[in-house]
Amino acid sequence: MPKPLFITFEGGEATGKSTQVRQITSFLRDAGHHVVTVAEPGGTELGARLRRLVKFGRMPISPRAEALLFVAARAQLVEEVIAPALADGAVVVSDRFGDSTLAYQGYGRGLDVEELRGMNEAATGGLQPDLTVLLDLPVDLALMRRAPRGGDRFEAGLAKADAADVAFHLRVREGFLTLAAQEPERWLVVNATLPRGEVTRLVRERAAAMLAG
Ligand code: TMP
Repeated sequence: MPKPLFITFEGGEATGKSTQVRQITSFLRDAGHHVVTVAEPGGTELGARLRRLVKFGRMPISPRAEALLFVAARAQLVEEVIAPALADGAVVVSDRFGDSTLAYQGYGRGLDVEELRGMNEAATGGLQPDLTVLLDLPVDLALMRRAPRGGDRFEAGLAKADAADVAFHLRVREGFLTLAAQEPERWLVVNATLPRGEVTRLVRERAAAMLAG
């Protein structure tokens, strides 16, 4: 059976994650791998509904409730899509996973990071990515990239450049960098200000090495 591999992409807003997810997916498919690509929150019917609620809902959502909604979507995604694909020997590429909850709801909103790790573990059965790519971008640049759009509950703050929201995104960025520093063997930190093709090359190189080794 081919070697299963679980790759996740993490980072703040406007870091080019979805482009890089598409690039690595086609690179690995062209190399003959069976690749299953998902994005969080989403990827299942429940996930899609929770995504709408949590991104565009107009009712108050407390940080704890928000964390539990993201984690619920994750539990469904693992059970329905990710675990079966890995069991089949696929390469699974996920646009965000558990580290987003640690960075956004933990470092960003101020919930206890260890408690959130426990929630993730309960939801995923302890599933951890083999490789997590952090696309790291300074918040002021994200602000410039995002400003004209500013769509959902998370991006709205960046578009307005409201001081409290900018501070939130600064904490999220620092949170990701802290998580990456704690587990350097799992994380590949890539400077998202590099030209897009260069970012793609760095990610391809690491993924190819992991699949070969
Ligand atoms: P995206 O589609 O732009 O990645 O939007 C997902 C948004 O949800 C993004 O602002 C990050 C946020 N998020 C969390 O706050 N916690 C989570 O666990 C996940 C998966 C996403």
